[in-house]
Amino acid sequence: MELKRIVGYEAAKLVKDGDIVGLGTGSTTHYFIKKLGERVKKDEIEVMGIPTSYQSFFLAKESGIPVTTLNEHDIDIAVDGADEVDPDLNLIKGGGAAHTMEKIVDGSAVRFVVIVDSSKIVDQLGSMPVPVEVIPDAMRVVQRNIEIIGGAPALRMAERKDGPVITDNGNFVLDVAFEEIGNPWDLEVELNSIPGVVENGLFTGLADEVLVGKDGKVETLKR
Ligand code: 5RP
Repeated sequence: MELKRIVGYEAAKLVKDGDIVGLGTGSTTHYFIKKLGERVKKDEIEVMGIPTSYQSFFLAKESGIPVTTLNEHDIDIAVDGADEVDPDLNLIKGGGAAHTMEKIVDGSAVRFVVIVDSSKIVDQLGSMPVPVEVIPDAMRVVQRNIEIIGGAPALRMAERKDGPVITDNGNFVLDVAFEEIGNPWDLEVELNSIPGVVENGLFTGLADEVLVGKDGKVETLKR
């Protein structure tokens, strides 16, 4: 948690007065939003946030950050966490089932900054399954099509195991394991071309920089 706090706080320094800020989702972004809220409350900067989930919406409100929408404003900087980061700064996201809105917000920002602790840095994506948001009625058909392209899908269940996780958009999430992800760029497009898939958690070519918390310090990786 300490490394997540350090990178979250560091990222809050990157936000400038007047910025429209994409607010990511997750435990690392939590620290970013809290620190950004402190800067706003101290009148250091005036910003507006565009949340990527209900979780970040409520946290932004609680932290004193005014919120707006993508239909009203463009994003100057987005800050978000990730589950895996490869050497080309491609990502797997969606551990929190928020990857659809995250890709829309992060992908539209002029500057997209990823914040992670060093445990998220990998040589190749794919140790964790790729989250895929699906329309509930399409689940079985999507599962079948995913198996045809070599994936092993598992419906993500709620913690109490009494039903599936439901996304902010009212959909299910399939966690899809692959033996190897040789080409994340192609796989991202291939998964999204299956009818019933809303969005998948591969984020290729989107991140501009990654702040990595390691040994109590922050390192910056750039493309
Ligand atoms: C949510 C995400 C998160 O950004 C990702 O899961 C990282 O989370 P954390 O900062 O809690 O490790 O993609 O959908």
